[in-house]
Amino acid sequence: MPFHRVLPGTPSRPFRRTALRSAVSLALSLAAAMAAPSLSLAASGAAKGPVVPQDGPVRSGYALSKLHCARCHIIHPDDRFTGHASTPSFMIMIDALEDWPERFDTFMGRNPHPAHLRLDGSDARPDNLPATIVEVILTQQEIEDILAYVDYLAKEQGRPRPD
Ligand code: HEC
Repeated sequence: MPFHRVLPGTPSRPFRRTALRSAVSLALSLAAAMAAPSLSLAASGAAKGPVVPQDGPVRSGYALSKLHCARCHIIHPDDRFTGHASTPSFMIMIDALEDWPERFDTFMGRNPHPAHLRLDGSDARPDNLPATIVEVILTQQEIEDILAYVDYLAKEQGRPRPD
């Protein structure tokens, strides 16, 4: 059985060492590639991210908005590189729409959101109405946190939700 002698023998050891060495250098160059842009972002101040409260529902709502809404909407004045030009930013909506609180309170049911957002625990989408993009399922708590963030943003903009 020549195979048995060949496989664990000398040829495999140098191979493994080279593979390890190239894995290490790949990891190092990846780390360098990842560090470079974040360093330049830090220099410009962008890596810090917006100043929002560090904990509580506002922080969580900000993180959730970034995760689930920023694909289409700009959700904070310091996050200008997200969103679509064709989708109104959270700030524009708060500024321009007299009834922004009502619209945010009911965003789950307003177009285009029913095409991809769904309340946790609600009925699954019917087979003939598939999600148009990867479906996002939000809990009631997550929706409340997003609304807490939007209220915070509105207050910062001098357009607080009326009592
Ligand atoms: C796939 C893209 C997309 C995502 C993701 C998205 N939106 Fe929207 N949203 C839109 C578009 C487009 C409009 C404008 C619709 C219009 O002009 O009728 C809109 C409108 C709105 C409006 C105003 C609705 C109205 O009828 O006036 C609110 C409030 C809103 N979005 C909140 C959110 C929140 C909160 C999230 C995250 C949980 C979110 N959106 C995620 C695309 C998106």
